[in-house]
Amino acid sequence: MCSDPVPALRQCPTHSLRSQIGERHTRGMSLDQSLDVGIAEELTRCLGPADVAHTLPPACYVDDDVYALEQQVLFRQGWVGVGRSDRWPNEGDFSAFDIGGVPVVVVRSDAGDLRAYANSCRHRGAQVMVGEGSCSRMRCPFHYWTYGLDGRLIGAPSMSETANFDRAEYGMVEFSLAERHGFVFVCLEADPPLVDGWIGDFDTFHSPWPIADLVSTRRRELIVNCNWKPFAEVFNEYYHLPYVHPGSIDSTYNEPDDPEDVVGAYATHFGTTVGTGGLLVTDLDKQLPMMAGLEGRAAEGVRYTWLFPNIIVAVGSEAMWMYELYPDGPDRVRCFQVVCFPQSTIDSPGFAEKAEAYYERFDVAIAEDIPVLEQQHAGLKSPFAKQGRFSYLEPSVAKFASWYATKLLASSQKAK
Ligand code: FES
Ligand SMILES: [Fe+2]
Repeated sequence: MCSDPVPALRQCPTHSLRSQIGERHTRGMSLDQSLDVGIAEELTRCLGPADVAHTLPPACYVDDDVYALEQQVLFRQGWVGVGRSDRWPNEGDFSAFDIGGVPVVVVRSDAGDLRAYANSCRHRGAQVMVGEGSCSRMRCPFHYWTYGLDGRLIGAPSMSETANFDRAEYGMVEFSLAERHGFVFVCLEADPPLVDGWIGDFDTFHSPWPIADLVSTRRRELIVNCNWKPFAEVFNEYYHLPYVHPGSIDSTYNEPDDPEDVVGAYATHFGTTVGTGGLLVTDLDKQLPMMAGLEGRAAEGVRYTWLFPNIIVAVGSEAMWMYELYPDGPDRVRCFQVVCFPQSTIDSPGFAEKAEAYYERFDVAIAEDIPVLEQQHAGLKSPFAKQGRFSYLEPSVAKFASWYATKLLASSQKAK
């Protein structure tokens, strides 16, 4: 993979000079929407595993044009995670949000299945739904065109004199939605790739844990002033633990296993822990029951998984904790922390109090990560920031960088 250059993009006599004089914020893409040749050349160095690959080019974290290309290539194409199925437990529960800059609404229909629609009214385009909540139908606030939970247009006032107007032709545009292992994925492509191919052999490495049956008990929003990718990266590497978490969680983690060689748009890495990975060492007396059926080494550690591009998951022996990441420009990310337990654990005595100790552990760790992430972002904005190299403790970060580079380079080649 590393020896697969992109010849058509490699000539950039001014690149090194331009990167020295600080034009990065304007140099992401040329007018034909293909990558700047300098960035493309840097991305070819990201192909391959951690021992040979370079880190992503700094421009990929700060450049408005690269961000726009990411939105197109990584979020408006392929499957994007939008959380757990139990985010919408009841018929009519909905959430409106953007995927790749496209307004989308996810709703649980009257038939009980989840649906995803373009959140743009078929009359004159207003966003139909805002925020989240529960509804019996979706009504546009502008002229009250009203849609059923199945997306059909069921009401359109004062349209009786409009020639050849057939309500059946003006239902909401529907996107593909799939549920796997309790996670919900949406794809904006008209002809989506197979979701089972997308997540590949996820089941091979996650089958010891009853992930599909876990129940969300906490959902907490955080806004972080950094690019969305470093938030996912720091969650998926052991390298920073002794330096960023010396007094909280570092002593919990042993040296991780060798990384898995996976098939699919994800990366995963397992490591054993001392005690549980879900609690601070001072709270080990609050340990909740182990998930049913867990045995062997899987019961003795935490598996960290990054479902590309935007879902990061840690599953330990008693709990699963994860973040959904929604980019908000190159400099900001909206994150939702979600914590899940088996229903039998939720029903066990003293659950509420003990669960608070788990939430505390996750909050302490992320509170230690955030200042470093924001400091990293400040450094990446410098015109003098450059690509670095990976440690063997960052295999999942390298795996993402390789996937990311492959996607952006392929789109750039197509645009030529
Ligand atoms: S724009 Fe929605 S009803 Fe007019
Ligand atoms: Fe961390």
